[in-house]
Amino acid sequence: MPELLDLHPKPADMRALVIEGLSRNPKQLPAWFLYDAEGSRLFELIGEQPEYTLTATETALLEQQAQAIAAALGPGTLVEFGAGSARKVAPLLGALRDPAYVALDISAEHLAQACGRLQRQFPTVPMLGICCDYTQLQQLPPHPLISGSAHLGFFPGSSLGNFEPDAAIALLAQFRRLLGPGGQLLIGIDQPKAVERLEAAYNDAAGISAAFALNLLQRLNRDLQGNFDPEAFRYRARWLPEASHIEMALVSQRAQEVDVAGQRWCFAVGEALITETSAKYSPEAFVRLAAAAGWRGQARWSDGANDLSLHLLVQAD
Ligand SMILES: C[S@@+](CC[C@H](N)C(=O)[O-])C[C@H]1O[C@@H](n2cnc3c(N)ncnc32)[C@H](O)[C@@H]1O
Repeated sequence: MPELLDLHPKPADMRALVIEGLSRNPKQLPAWFLYDAEGSRLFELIGEQPEYTLTATETALLEQQAQAIAAALGPGTLVEFGAGSARKVAPLLGALRDPAYVALDISAEHLAQACGRLQRQFPTVPMLGICCDYTQLQQLPPHPLISGSAHLGFFPGSSLGNFEPDAAIALLAQFRRLLGPGGQLLIGIDQPKAVERLEAAYNDAAGISAAFALNLLQRLNRDLQGNFDPEAFRYRARWLPEASHIEMALVSQRAQEVDVAGQRWCFAVGEALITETSAKYSPEAFVRLAAAAGWRGQARWSDGANDLSLHLLVQAD
């Protein structure tokens, strides 16, 4: 089993984030609260739904382009942000020469399982798992796998879309610092497409996206002493053209009061708790965003339908 470092946010920090998020108007929590063990399991199921094509498209693109990507990246330790099941990285580990691998994820149990499975697939690749909130990581922890050559960041799944533009720029700048001088970032970005396709992807007929969002309430009940009634909320996912993002929310079905994180919160009928947003960027818009964080677009690979891009970013100076 690969070594695992536990830097998960402490209960007091989680409580402060929930209080901050529920004090906002509209109410919104950081997307990582969706990922307890059950949330991670449900996210994997979302990736198998026919409406949610992102996972299959990005996986196939990585498999097809692994050699070209590995040649462009060169040597270094691969550092994956939000590794999830850590399945997408496999073609890269197969194509890179003498790779080492560091997986960062907030979901501890899932991370341990994913790293264990990957280590059995690549027994000779040195690996390390770090359970953390990557938005709060000031530096990669000191470790033999992390010292040394320039780091190759990997951020698939279009997870950058979960951040509002200013926060996305801040996160890209933070990754730049974490990866160090000469670091590179391979990042998967979902592109705008027909509204019907986008909304269907987050409203799968099997109801897995709804279950994933509603699981947030169970998580808050368990970890932050809440008394949410999941039956009193309905899942909603809609495309907001002015923000160029999908907004996913739990909408209160009645006026109600809920206790969580040591405080009482009022929900009006129809009031939304935003669980996450998912912004879509054209290749040009994304390269502009990355430039604001000190990255330069070096290469781009796309699927045949041009639904999604893998951008290779290098440091601008
Ligand atoms: C949308 S899923 C993508 C998973 C995988 N990379 C993929 O492309 O299929 C987001 C992953 O990032 C993790 N995650 C989300 N926010 C995080 C954060 N702030 N810090 C660390 N991990 C985070 C989640 O636990 C989840 O595994």
